[in-house]
Amino acid sequence: MQKILIGTNNKGKVKEYKFFLSNYFDVLTPADIGVNFDVAETGTTYEENSLLKLEFLRRKDLNMAILCDDSGLEIESLSGEPGIFSARYAGEDCSDQDNINKVLRNLKGKKDRKAKFVCVISFFWEKFSSFPRLFRGECHGSIIDNQSGNSGFGYDPIFFYENLAKTFANLSEDEKNKVSHRAIAMKELFSNLNF
Ligand code: IMP
Repeated sequence: MQKILIGTNNKGKVKEYKFFLSNYFDVLTPADIGVNFDVAETGTTYEENSLLKLEFLRRKDLNMAILCDDSGLEIESLSGEPGIFSARYAGEDCSDQDNINKVLRNLKGKKDRKAKFVCVISFFWEKFSSFPRLFRGECHGSIIDNQSGNSGFGYDPIFFYENLAKTFANLSEDEKNKVSHRAIAMKELFSNLNF
């Protein structure tokens, strides 16, 4: 089977990408191949940060497909925060719960709870294209005060997905991976790959 390297240390993301890709690729992480994956996210957009991660791994000449992403949660009444800073909203080395607490603190008293998740995948595979390709997915929902559910990761317990009337953390793996921002970006990638 052909190999694909997923450029992330986030176990939640790895699980989701394995779900999408395992039928087609042997899915590897930087840790699996002894690469210390530590890329400063100095870009100002998801696209830039996603490509920074991709270029870091491309420079290693690994001779396999590489997929990276940059993603985040954008809350309308917080002017799009936390956005590209979603992973470190409450500070470097903060926990998912710290980030959730900060969002809920900042939303106190605000009526508008609309939010969206965004994911930008960057992908490079010599067999597919001679240059990196980008694929974006967005998923709309709202932020609820009472966090609920144990599945998923990050902000999933406070992201309420109206179409299924559940938080992302209350969706099954199958359900989230049909509708999420990451799933939508993956569909774009797959349709381009003709899978
Ligand atoms: P990064 O893409 O590694 O910069 O991190 C994105 C951050 O956004 C994650 O650490 C999570 O906090 C949040 N995030 C991205 N996608 C999801 C998701 O599917 N569920 C919950 N949180 C997410």
